[in-house]
This record gives sequence, C-alpha cells and structure tokens, in this order.
Amino acid sequence: MTDTVLKLDNISKNFGPIKAADDINIEVGQTEFFALLGPSGSGKTTMLRMIAGLEKPDTGTISISGRDVTNEPPYRRGIGMVFQDFLLFPHKTVAENIMFPLKMQGASEKDKRENLQWVSNLVHLEGLEERYPHQLSGGQKQRVALARGLVSRPSLLLLDEPLANLDRELRKEMEVEIRRFQIELAIPFVYVTHNQEEAMTMSDRMAIMRDGKMEQVGEKFSLYHDPASQFVASFLGSPNAFEGVVSSVEEGIAQINWFGHSIRARAHDGLQPGDRAVCYVKSEKISMLESGGALTGVLRDIIFKGQYADYLVSLGDGHEITVSGAPMTGLKKGAPMHLDWDPGKADAFRAQGGAQ
Ligand SMILES: Nc1ncnc2c1ncn2[C@@H]1O[C@H](COP(=O)(O)OP(=O)(O)OP(=O)(O)O)[C@@H](O)[C@H]1O
Ligand SMILES: [Mg+2]
Repeated sequence: MTDTVLKLDNISKNFGPIKAADDINIEVGQTEFFALLGPSGSGKTTMLRMIAGLEKPDTGTISISGRDVTNEPPYRRGIGMVFQDFLLFPHKTVAENIMFPLKMQGASEKDKRENLQWVSNLVHLEGLEERYPHQLSGGQKQRVALARGLVSRPSLLLLDEPLANLDRELRKEMEVEIRRFQIELAIPFVYVTHNQEEAMTMSDRMAIMRDGKMEQVGEKFSLYHDPASQFVASFLGSPNAFEGVVSSVEEGIAQINWFGHSIRARAHDGLQPGDRAVCYVKSEKISMLESGGALTGVLRDIIFKGQYADYLVSLGDGHEITVSGAPMTGLKKGAPMHLDWDPGKADAFRAQGGAQ
C-alpha cells in the first residue's frame, strides 16, 4: 500500500492466559474505511486501545504515517476516538464537551472556536452548542461524541461500536452519515463492530477477528463472496448450512451427501471423500427452476422485505431452505419449488465436530 497511514506489525497482547491480540498485522490507507468485525471478546477494543496508546502491546510496533508511535503517549499520536457509550461530561455544555481535547492540548480561544464551528457544521449540531447532554436525543449525543473525536483534526479516527446504543432506524441513518464524514475528511476510520451488516454497509475493507487472531482480511466483497474459513462464512451470514459426508471431490468441487440430497460446493480445508463437511449457500445465490435442481420442495411462506423477498422452501423432511430474490406475484404457498445454485458460489468446510 503506497498511502499507508496506520501500520501494525506483529502486535500481540496477553491478559494473563488470554490472548487478546495474537500476531496482528494490519495496514490502513489514507482514504480507507476499515472495519474490525468479530464476536464479543475477540479482541476488537483491545486493538483500538493499543492503536490509541491507552494500552501497550507486549510485542510489535505501531506506526502512523511512517512514524513509530509504539512508545508515544496518546496525545502525541494525532488520533481521535469515539466510544460506544459516548462518555460525555454531564455538567459541561455541548460546546465544552466538543472542545475538551483542544483544551487539553492548550489550544487558543480562537482555535477552539474555529474548530468548534467547523466540526458542528460537519456533523450538523448547529444551534445545540449551549445545551447539556441530558437535553439531547441519543442521536445528537452520538454526534457530539463524533464531533469531539474529530475536533482536533486527527490524522486517523478510531470508533468503538459507536452506534450500538441507538435504535435501528437511527443506526441506519448514522451508518450512512459516518461514511459520508469519512469520505469528506479523507482520513482513515478504523471502525469496531460485531454487527456484520454495519461493517458491510460502511467499510471498504474489513478484518474478521476471532480469539485475538485475524481470521481473514480484505475487501468486504471478497470476504463476503470468498470466505476462507467456516468461521467467516457463518459469521458473514448464510442462512443455509448443510452438514454431511463428502462423497467426492472433483476439480475443487465437493459433493456432499446431506440427508440423501446431493449438495455441491467449493471444497476448502483439503476436504476428501469420507470427511464430514459443512456447506454454506447464500440465499441470494440459489435459483428457482421450473424443474430438476439439487433440491425440491414446496413453498411454505414468502417474507416480503420491500425490495426483495425471502422464500421459505420446505423440503418435506423437516428441513427448510431460504431463497432471496425479487418479489414475485403469482407464486403461491404450496407451489412446488426446484432449487439449484452454481457450486462455485457455495463453500464447504471441514465440519468442526458434533453430530449432524
Ligand atoms: N484489562 C483487561 N484485563 C484482563 N482481561 C482483559 C482486559 N481487557 C480485555 N480483556 C480480555 O481480552 C479479551 C478481548 O477483550 P476485548 O474487550 O478486546 O474484546 P471485544 O472484541 O472488544 O469484545 P466486545 O465485542 O464484547 O466489546 C476478552 O477475553 C477480555 O475479557
Ligand atoms: Mg469491545
């Protein structure tokens, strides 16, 4: 990467026996929105705290714009930070909250006022400057926290689950807004979340974290379409998972016997005939045919989602498949369904044990 702003090399951090970060290498470029996505306890916050300088890594180096900052205190790193619970001072006004980082840096009154005005316009807080946090809505508090993270014009902004406390409607709105700020400011954002939809909506690239390790990193589309492990495939959401025994593997495509049905998908993990495998097929990659197909069943229900619909197909043996597609009129519950997919767009991994 030619325009790298943030670079982590071989970062590890243990808390007693817990590996919160295990040999992490990340590069984030000047105009990138980078998401750290992973379940609770996977080490996302620890990573942000190390980047910010609030926690020291056991090994490895952190550089910002080519400068090694591993041993520098937080205020020398030029980084802004936004937290999940906002952390606003209740007895300070919006303006005082926002200007707090500048005050700590000893900025002049003029500087403080200019930057306050700039950032209030950016995040749309005009007119609220003299209010106190308890006089703000959840969304407005979030904007104040964002403004405070940006007011000192950092070269990098870190955000730790900033939308987790907002309701769904507001979250959707803020996802788009935060993305807009990032594009407008042209600085990298490193955004922590355990919500895959949020990461997909906002980021350019993402890293999937698991137990302190980076499971996979790359463009969001390539992670979604080409998951390298079962963890990533299941974490990025596939409603259809089939577990069975591999009967053959040819030209990279495994054939899996799943309750008498033959399921085909790309073979990962060096799958061989006789291995137990779990196969993920994304609902939008399944087509509905007139006849034939890998699976047949009847339409049990249609969940209308507006721009698309989920078709729930019952296979008659207690199993159900979800197919997503354009809403169609004319399809009635109980209609026979023939389903198939391109095996090159489904993924089979070695099963992690456990009964079928
Ligand atoms: N100060 C600490 N002392 C001991 N263990 C810690 C400390 N901070 C974090 N951990 C442990 O390190 C691991 C990673 O924690 P971290 O907070 O980074 O996870 P996370 O991915 O942010 O999780 P969440 O989504 O729940 O916020 C967890 O097992 C946690 O219990
Ligand atoms: Mg966390």
